[in-house]
Amino acid sequence: MSGGLTAPKGTFDTLPPDSARFLAVRDTLTAPLRRAGYGYVETPVFEETAVFSRGVGESTDVVTKEMYSFSDRGGRSLTLRPELTAGLMRAFIEHRMHGGALPVKLWTVGSAFRYERPQAGRYRHFTQVDMEALGVDDPALDAEVVALGVQGFRDLGLTDFELLLTSLGDTTCRPQYRELLVAYLDKLDLDEETRRRAAINPLRVLDDKRPEVQAQLHDAPLMVDHLSDSTRAHYDAVRQHLTDLGVTWTEAPKLVRGLDYYTKTTFEFVHDGLGAQSAIGGGGRYDGLSAALGGPDVSGIGYAVGVDRTLLAVQAEGLDIGAVAGVQAFVVPLGAEAKRLAVRLVGQLRQAGVAADTVYGDRGLKGAMKAADRSGASHVVVVGERDLAEGVGQLKDLRTGDQRAVPVAELFETVRASVEG
Ligand code: HAM
Repeated sequence: MSGGLTAPKGTFDTLPPDSARFLAVRDTLTAPLRRAGYGYVETPVFEETAVFSRGVGESTDVVTKEMYSFSDRGGRSLTLRPELTAGLMRAFIEHRMHGGALPVKLWTVGSAFRYERPQAGRYRHFTQVDMEALGVDDPALDAEVVALGVQGFRDLGLTDFELLLTSLGDTTCRPQYRELLVAYLDKLDLDEETRRRAAINPLRVLDDKRPEVQAQLHDAPLMVDHLSDSTRAHYDAVRQHLTDLGVTWTEAPKLVRGLDYYTKTTFEFVHDGLGAQSAIGGGGRYDGLSAALGGPDVSGIGYAVGVDRTLLAVQAEGLDIGAVAGVQAFVVPLGAEAKRLAVRLVGQLRQAGVAADTVYGDRGLKGAMKAADRSGASHVVVVGERDLAEGVGQLKDLRTGDQRAVPVAELFETVRASVEG
């Protein structure tokens, strides 16, 4: 009894043939990372809740409203990861990776969970490609990270995306800037809820989308105008390297990310064709995350790209990616004896690396030929009872229409040579 069960609200199933596009997007986004020496890591899909409450930040919507937290049967508070960075940093600290050669360059891909209000491009279960370069604070590394993100989108053929870039300063200048901003916000006409948010993280108010709030913010002090000499120099160097790498960007001084750990270089990738949920990726440097998780005082930088949203962007640009390859050879047996031969032949071909398939169930010649057609095979072997009596199978090249009888003993070699030829 199914009881009409459906996927939970805000989640969806990815089925063939769309799933092939999903895989193609995911793998294209990770290829530049693998080429640049980033190593693959896997961490658990759930972590101790403190990893996120301490890592992502108590003032964020992600932590206060969106976490899937639960107690397990042993009474531990666990949370399904709302993002992948904090878990990677937890692993980096736990395995003392900072004791080895730095930077430690890591990437991963997998599920993330946020209890958000579902809409197009915003889901409760989604997939991120995430990368992090840990343990070195060097503007050239910031530029590498940003450029690798750009490369992934370019490799997909995307053009209607933009890189938004800013610097959020660090402990040498953010506290002073924060005071300036608080003083500015104090004079504004804001509701209680917004004031409460401002008290925890005033920068978040800059990100408020409501027109009545934005209207009051046009001459708000901006972090980029109040960077210390060291963070200013860092940001200038990042931009110089990005220019050298052929990366263009838009300065986004009001960019505020949804997670609290960012310092210095901070960025987002947005796409034109997606409506409200336009961010296809984002990231930045985070000097305090390791320490917040009880680790050594090391910095890191990285980004995550939303695979689902990037797939929407690929579709919005009408890009043809991840077409299902189909099989090379298809075997159609007619009768029980031919069936044995077909099963054996398909097995041999697959062992030899040829993509091959056959029909299952009693389909009859017409149904079987339809299946052969749908399979995308260039070569079809039909083995009928009369063929068998003569010790042959009929090999047909669907591209040319040529057909010839091939002795059963030579079928495997002939098919293999034909599909490769
Ligand atoms: P984020 O901006 O929260 O950053 O998420 C990165 C990307 O994940 C977004 O740009 C978006 O494409 C996708 N995404 C986020 N939420 C959803 C959702 N509800 N539905 C569909 N897609 C979504 C982070 O997660 C940081 N950990 C990135 C990072 C890595 N920063 C440093 N290193």
